[in-house]
Amino acid sequence: MKIGVFDSGLGGLVITQAFIKALPDYDYLYLGDTAHLPYGEKTSGRILKYTLDSLRYLIDSDCGLIIIACNTATSIALRYIQQKFIPAYAPRVKVLGVVIPTVEAALAQPVSRVGVIATPATIKSHIYATELHKIQPSVKVTEVATPQLVPLIESNNFQYMDNLVDDYLSNFDAIDSLILGCTHYPLIKDYCRRRLPDVNIISQDELMGAKLADYLHRHPEIDSQLSRQGTRRFCVTRTSPSALAVASRLIPDIEVAEISLD
Ligand code: DGL
Repeated sequence: MKIGVFDSGLGGLVITQAFIKALPDYDYLYLGDTAHLPYGEKTSGRILKYTLDSLRYLIDSDCGLIIIACNTATSIALRYIQQKFIPAYAPRVKVLGVVIPTVEAALAQPVSRVGVIATPATIKSHIYATELHKIQPSVKVTEVATPQLVPLIESNNFQYMDNLVDDYLSNFDAIDSLILGCTHYPLIKDYCRRRLPDVNIISQDELMGAKLADYLHRHPEIDSQLSRQGTRRFCVTRTSPSALAVASRLIPDIEVAEISLD
């Protein structure tokens, strides 16, 4: 069985690359639901529906372990998927998200004031503040929605990124860590580091590879079910010239197939 990686768009390719770098022998199937991007502006009901449609595709395509690389889908849908959907639809499949590993990485060093940037839906769910407080109740968390970032990143438009990042990050006062709580934001981590040089920038591409390797190490019963022929397949629900440009910027020579979830 393969490792499935799901995102609402192409940002999840950055996380997939981190997995491939840490665990190159495994077989990967990537699905980006570009037809419905951005999830971050949609209702919880829509986000849940689209995520379930995508997960069914990955499960039916023989994925035994699925990582929801999308922070928005993790925030809104992961609990339902783990508690209700998977036990009924595919009890042997494991589904993981990105929020808990990110929170663990953020709290691996001493922190007192954490900033979070993410989509409106993720911020509205307060998942980062909730999970940070579960581990460290004293931590002060400021969450800021940054809705203009994903459309610009997905359309490969970085022209005004410095100004936009400047604007958004001016909302934070004296934070010691900043969580980039969206799959796409590793692509703007350098802008954030330039703007906040003394702040620890937590970027999911730098932590998820080690987290997945650690998870498989701790779960040999799952690891032993995963095939290792080094294959990769990348699918989206809608292609466009700018989407293909982003994809090949992230993974040169990538071949992207368009699939239908109907
Ligand atoms: N992939 C989403 C996330 O990580 C961002 C893009 C979207 O809004 O769909 O939150």
